[in-house]
Amino acid sequence: MLIRTPKDWELSESSATAEAVYRLRNRREFLKTLGAGLAGVALAPHGLLAATAGFPSKENPLFPASALKPTAYEFITSYNNFYEFGTGKDDPAKYANRGWKTEPWTVELAGLIRAPATFDVNALVAKIGGLEQRVYRHRCVEAWSMVVPWDGFPLAKLVALADPKPEAKFLKFTSFLDPKNAVGQQDSYLGWPYVEGLRLDEAVNELAFIATGIYGKPLPNQNGAPLRLVTPWKYGFKGIKSIVKIEFTDRAPLNTWQRLAPNEYGFYANVNPQVDHPRWSQASERVIGGGIFAGRQTTLMFNGYEKQVAGLYKGLDLTQNY
Ligand code: MTE
Repeated sequence: MLIRTPKDWELSESSATAEAVYRLRNRREFLKTLGAGLAGVALAPHGLLAATAGFPSKENPLFPASALKPTAYEFITSYNNFYEFGTGKDDPAKYANRGWKTEPWTVELAGLIRAPATFDVNALVAKIGGLEQRVYRHRCVEAWSMVVPWDGFPLAKLVALADPKPEAKFLKFTSFLDPKNAVGQQDSYLGWPYVEGLRLDEAVNELAFIATGIYGKPLPNQNGAPLRLVTPWKYGFKGIKSIVKIEFTDRAPLNTWQRLAPNEYGFYANVNPQVDHPRWSQASERVIGGGIFAGRQTTLMFNGYEKQVAGLYKGLDLTQNY
């Protein structure tokens, strides 16, 4: 018989409830802070703002808040995976706001492109022409989910700016390296910096997004300030945070989790309820932020975005290419 050790993300029912009740109690306090922030105070509830250009964003009517119920801001910004700042879900909110600077910040476009360049993030947003808001489902490979109102711009716009050469077939994204301020990077187990990749046709799909904000405010550090990738049809680990470089390549980059555990995490990482993780089922997901009503829901193929992305994988065996 298998003896299963619960992982730290598997909160017991009672501790999850206690946490939710605690947060509800603090909600009033939080809303006050948020109100003050919107009135022009330059401090977010979690530290200094970064990448401030482009706000307010305009809602994209194709992905409106009315179609999905967004998770409360306090859950999105306090229950995080950002191993550069520790492995606990509450570590990033604590440790990413102690001395780590996300402004100024530059991102480099390199590799098989006609227009290599290094941009200041705020200048990049201005060049792209402003921000839009999209409400997307967010499904982690650990079988929990949220709904996030992201602010940002389509990745396709960045690709157009880079002007890829015909031999470019993939994008390799690299996150920052700063072991002095990122406590998690003082331990080498993950092999820093964090790396992710997309096929070029995935990158120009209408859903692929670069986020610089949440709920109409600049990204808090723990969510990957000042800019991170969002690919809502894929597991959350593809959504690399705090990007410093995007390189266009002719071969598939080896992403961090695939390098660490190739039998558990692949290059594609498309949300697929029919392909279980070797250690747990992917058929359903725990909904974060539902408070005492928290529950599980059925996981959808491509996380509910089959219409937009299924065509990208025609003829590909998704049980082998996971
Ligand atoms: N990016 C970096 N640089 N480092 C990380 O540890 N974790 C990934 C992804 N991007 C991670 C990262 C994982 S596993 C998930 S589920 C999402 O970020 C979590 O994003 P969130 O904290 O905004 O929900």
